Amino acid sequence: MRNKVLSGLALLGAVTLGLSACGSDGGDDVAAGSGGGGGGDDVITVGFAQTGSESGWRSANTESMKEAFSEENGFELVFNAADNDPAAQIAAVRSFINQGVDAIVIAPIVEDGWDDVLQEAQDADIPVILEDRTVTASEDLYATWVGLDFKLEGQKAGEWAAENFTEPTTMVVLEGTTGSAPANDRAEGFDAAIEGTPIEKIDSQTGDFTRDGGKSVMEGFLQKYGVDGIDLVYAHNDDMGLGAIEAIEAAGAVPGEDIKIITIDAVRDGMQALVDGKINYIVECNPLLGEKAAELVKAVLDGEEVDKRTIVEDQAFDQAAAEEALPDRKY
Ligand code: AHR
Repeated sequence: MRNKVLSGLALLGAVTLGLSACGSDGGDDVAAGSGGGGGGDDVITVGFAQTGSESGWRSANTESMKEAFSEENGFELVFNAADNDPAAQIAAVRSFINQGVDAIVIAPIVEDGWDDVLQEAQDADIPVILEDRTVTASEDLYATWVGLDFKLEGQKAGEWAAENFTEPTTMVVLEGTTGSAPANDRAEGFDAAIEGTPIEKIDSQTGDFTRDGGKSVMEGFLQKYGVDGIDLVYAHNDDMGLGAIEAIEAAGAVPGEDIKIITIDAVRDGMQALVDGKINYIVECNPLLGEKAAELVKAVLDGEEVDKRTIVEDQAFDQAAAEEALPDRKY
């Protein structure tokens, strides 16, 4: 552990809290370095509070983070996945503070509610680096953020819809986790882009970014409006779109034809569905943020000036572009 010596009490707290975190989410928590901070003096101990494992995107993001924060790269990673429970995620961050880690990385499940625990981290002199999603708390409470422009993603999806649906169109929306930055921003960007078009949003509900959630919400929409009552689905991520495909097929309709689908992420399963014609358009959300996050953690701990925001660029894919990109897709 770098620049820090754990007191006996803090170490006891670390062991206790670490064990309880391990038990809380089916063994997802791991310390990816060697023996509890006992390695070389320069090992950087990082607590990473991941949202959970809700989607293919999330798996790719976790993998990217674990790869970047590896022992070979000089890190000991204490990993927690909060199963999409904001209170559990805040508890994990408190546990990292008690453990006296060198830095904390958070992929915040929701935007609100971070002020107190971020203040506690600052009081403990532990820098916080946000990755993926943002928070509404003051920028002074965290060192930097690396992530995506979710509003632009929604806008690109909406622009494609506006160009391609020029007749009256009924649309349902599968929203991401309520209160999360991508759900809020992707809705805002999309809605602005379709303003004044003949696309009418007839319903919108959360599927929590999961395939099962997308499927069951879509089943409800199909029961309520019928196959003929829905022209277009806008899903805030691929997994919910893939769940919607299952629901549409079970209702005897053809996804991508009878009901068109637009999603965000561009993970391999989503891209395959686009190539197969079951999804019509995907805006990318790049999950490979690990390398940049690790670089930022090192820079912050070295006292270097870093940008407050680093935005990773996204592409967008129609069927032809997906066909070309799929063979080399990394996630
Ligand atoms: O925050 C990024 C979003 O979270 C991804 O679009 C989604 O798949 C994930 O769960």
